Amino acid sequence: MIKDKVVLITGASSGIGEAAAKLIASKGAKVVLGARREDKLKQIADEIKNAGGEAVYQALDVTKPADNEAIVKLAKDSFGRLDAIFLNAGLMPVSPVSAVKTDEWKQMIDVNINGVLNGVAAVMPTFTEQKSGHILAVSSVAGLKAYPGTAVYGGTKWFVRDFMEVLRMESAMEGTNIRTATLYPAAINTELLDTITDKGSADGMQQVYDAFGISPDRIADVVAFALDMPEDTNVSEFTVGPANQPW
Ligand SMILES: NC(=O)c1ccc[n+]([C@@H]2O[C@H](COP(=O)([O-])OP(=O)(O)OC[C@H]3O[C@@H](n4cnc5c(N)ncnc54)[C@H](OP(=O)(O)O)[C@@H]3O)[C@@H](O)[C@H]2O)c1
Repeated sequence: MIKDKVVLITGASSGIGEAAAKLIASKGAKVVLGARREDKLKQIADEIKNAGGEAVYQALDVTKPADNEAIVKLAKDSFGRLDAIFLNAGLMPVSPVSAVKTDEWKQMIDVNINGVLNGVAAVMPTFTEQKSGHILAVSSVAGLKAYPGTAVYGGTKWFVRDFMEVLRMESAMEGTNIRTATLYPAAINTELLDTITDKGSADGMQQVYDAFGISPDRIADVVAFALDMPEDTNVSEFTVGPANQPW
């Protein structure tokens, strides 16, 4: 049941994170919002509270371990416990390898991989001790197969897939009742394309999203479904995208 669950969401200031926060808060979850843009988080938390929900927020850079630990503390101080984390923060400055955009490669590795690891490290002691917890993460259809132009982005998302599956298996073996859910979205209309600096990649992606993109509310529905499953059941993978996109 979602109601009264305390759920920490990274990358909650726009797109999928914002949509998930609003939906699960409307279903009674107590949400803890993190991202770098504090003004956006405040606005979203205010909207949730005005609609009768419960939300707190704090500036979070997922690449900084101390920030991740601090927002877990905020969740526990505000609501007494933490039940789930939605590891959603991510960047997609895609380009062909021949463009050699090494700074963007590093940035994607830092946010999309290290950010996930930092979030997991921050919740693991709590979830292990309480023998329950739910870890949800966003990979991508680019984490399921290879697409030209997304060598590094895709690599970070393949990492998420492997890591989450091993985490699920180890949790079952260790009897810690830590459940996992990995989401593989296709084209979802958010701010994700804004960080693309390679013009050819930006134009190509924009065409795909213009042709196929659907609302982040669809991904929020899946997050809510996963959170709502009974404690004895793990639905570990969800591939979700526009019905007319042959991803
Ligand atoms: N949209 C799609 O088609 C699609 C498809 C597959 C997978 N995904 C994945 O879905 C996730 C959410 O993306 P989105 O589509 O909703 O795009 P978005 O609107 O750009 O949202 C990305 C979120 O990540 C946050 N973020 C970025 N760097 C961060 C950092 N260092 N620390 C903390 N937060 C950070 C951003 O907030 P701040 O800038 O305020 O920090 C923002 O809230 C990403 O992991 C993305 O790879 C999206």
